[in-house]
Amino acid sequence: MLYIGVDLGTSAVKLLLMDSEGKIQNIVSREYPIFFPHPGWSEQDPEDWYDQTVEGIRELLQETDRSQVAGISFGGQMHGLVILDQNDQVIRPAILWNDGRTAEETDYLNNVVGKDKLSGYTANIAFAGFTAPKLLWVKKNEPENFAKIHKIMLPKDYIAYRLTGVHCTDMSDASGMLLFDVKNRRWSKEMCEICGVREEQLAKCFESYEKVGTVLPHIAAELDIPDGTIVAAGAGDNAAAAVGTGTVGDNRCNISLGTSGTIFISSKQFGVDKYNALHSFAHADGSYHLMGCMLSAASCNKWWMDDIVGTIDYAAEQKQIAKLGENHVYFLPYLMGERSPHNNPNARGTFIGMTMDTTRADMTQAVLEGVAFALRDSLEVAKSLGIKLERTKICGGGAKSPLWRQIIANVLNLQVDIIESEEGPALGGAMLAAVACGEYPNVEAIASKVVKVVQTVTPYPALAAKYDACYAKFKEIYPACKPVFDILTE
Ligand code: XUL
Repeated sequence: MLYIGVDLGTSAVKLLLMDSEGKIQNIVSREYPIFFPHPGWSEQDPEDWYDQTVEGIRELLQETDRSQVAGISFGGQMHGLVILDQNDQVIRPAILWNDGRTAEETDYLNNVVGKDKLSGYTANIAFAGFTAPKLLWVKKNEPENFAKIHKIMLPKDYIAYRLTGVHCTDMSDASGMLLFDVKNRRWSKEMCEICGVREEQLAKCFESYEKVGTVLPHIAAELDIPDGTIVAAGAGDNAAAAVGTGTVGDNRCNISLGTSGTIFISSKQFGVDKYNALHSFAHADGSYHLMGCMLSAASCNKWWMDDIVGTIDYAAEQKQIAKLGENHVYFLPYLMGERSPHNNPNARGTFIGMTMDTTRADMTQAVLEGVAFALRDSLEVAKSLGIKLERTKICGGGAKSPLWRQIIANVLNLQVDIIESEEGPALGGAMLAAVACGEYPNVEAIASKVVKVVQTVTPYPALAAKYDACYAKFKEIYPACKPVFDILTE
């Protein structure tokens, strides 16, 4: 049988076709626009997501025996607010995970309602990109839109809805809404009340590997796939990526270097850190995870290469980088503000430490290192909880760079296992579909069958020690700049 994994990303949707053995048969990708209507805001049109997903499925299956398609599932960009009216029409553009407009609402939730209450209800505190503060923003700034809300959805769930007619979500993605009681895997009545929504406005919540419905007959006919093709709930892109990299079970780690950067630690037990610096979310395998999320990761390098240096040959630029662990230039990668651990939408990208002999290569290196140091910030929080890690998987576009992998291994002092495919969320989505179709009994079973480590990057003690010293300096830069960030964004 064949399974389609849909990774509904921020810049593009990636579609992957996997067979019963877990072999990848085809991958296609289709882009859509992102709109920044004000500095720090970011929006997309759900119609673009759907159109490109359907076109992508068509392209994916061009050379395939379509009668073998059994299931579809997803990894989706998290936290995005999609609101539908009575007729299931999208009310306004989706407000995305990296949108920073909700500083006021986030403040209200954390400081008036209170972090302790939020953490008790949901296992998390409010971050600007989470869904609940966005609902409060719509309520205050667009009351006519708020009044029209019939259903509240997350990005990938809109695609599942269009394909099946079922208003659904999954536990991992629901966790990022701040409306979900993560520990007990159900909607939080208290949070619904705080946000002025009714539980029936939220979607039905499934485990990621559960069937939510089947592709509607007219869409199945349009795509020429079997009637009854199963759609599984899928997961937030990080939980789906964790499935795709075999980060399931206890105390496994995955780093995703996509538009965002995340460090994801799977756990059989529910847990929360003292300051809620890490997100405590449900995992797609039925258990839990902790996650640190930076809002700009591979996107910092893309910005630096494409927009500033003006090249598409990233590898050629990285070849000029000779000395690791000796860079005087530092970069704070906060181009969209920062989530973990600073929770500050006003934070900004910053180069510091340049002298007259600083080269373009030093600055490129600083960008790659700055992202690694910022990931380490979240790793340090995990370590403070007594979590001990020796190794991690890695996925996402940035994971293709051998140099960046080496920097990450040494800055984090972790063995970095490279797997056959870095297509985390799309592969994870296809794997979840295979479980929903009964091809595998559970997520752990398919992960141990499908995911293969092909190489390991090992840190060098001398270099890791140099990077320890650099990280100690990096840590001083954000607190020093913070007051200036507030002035700059006044
Ligand atoms: C996770 C997060 C990002 C998005 C990116 O909390 O906000 O990783 O899911 O798509």
